[in-house]
Amino acid sequence: MKLTKNQLKKIEKYAFQNAEEEGMAHDIDHIKSVTNWAIYLARKEKANVKVCKIAGLLHDIALKKYSRKNHEQKSARMAKEFLSKMKLDHNFINQVVHAIECHGSKFVKNAKTEEAKIIYDADKTQVVLIKGFCRLYEERLRKGLTMDENLEECEEIYNRLYQLIQTITAKKILKPPYQIMQQFFKEYKKWK
Ligand SMILES: [Fe+2]
Ligand SMILES: [Fe+2]
Repeated sequence: MKLTKNQLKKIEKYAFQNAEEEGMAHDIDHIKSVTNWAIYLARKEKANVKVCKIAGLLHDIALKKYSRKNHEQKSARMAKEFLSKMKLDHNFINQVVHAIECHGSKFVKNAKTEEAKIIYDADKTQVVLIKGFCRLYEERLRKGLTMDENLEECEEIYNRLYQLIQTITAKKILKPPYQIMQQFFKEYKKWK
């Protein structure tokens, strides 16, 4: 399916308008980064690059309006409505929507397409890479937990997200940071 430059601009504008404020976990930087990872993984895995790009852009659009709980479903619904108004191909819209609704660790087991698996992986690079862990830790520390409590929670989230990584390409890229972080958790507990 062909997307015109204008259509792409419109989608980008909608995605960035709905991103969280700068400095928050799901700000424009997060959206851009997930989209770039989605494109990269799609090329490596020989999946549909356009589906991955648009799903990457729209995967978190519900977060500004709604809470984080089940935002995958809400973002998918908003994306469906928005893309349908643009009169894009139904099959294309359905593929994008499916990828968005499966991007959480609770939902990735429902991912039926390569593109849906890629969006999960692209999103989780933002936690599993070392920089991603730092962001997760910093974001959660603001909740008033102690350092030890926060580290314990972050370790659980980190390991859970990593265990569900789907594609061979992402597994290869994320294994070294995962191993470093396992060492980090071990050393932290040993001397705390
Ligand atoms: Fe999300
Ligand atoms: Fe995200």
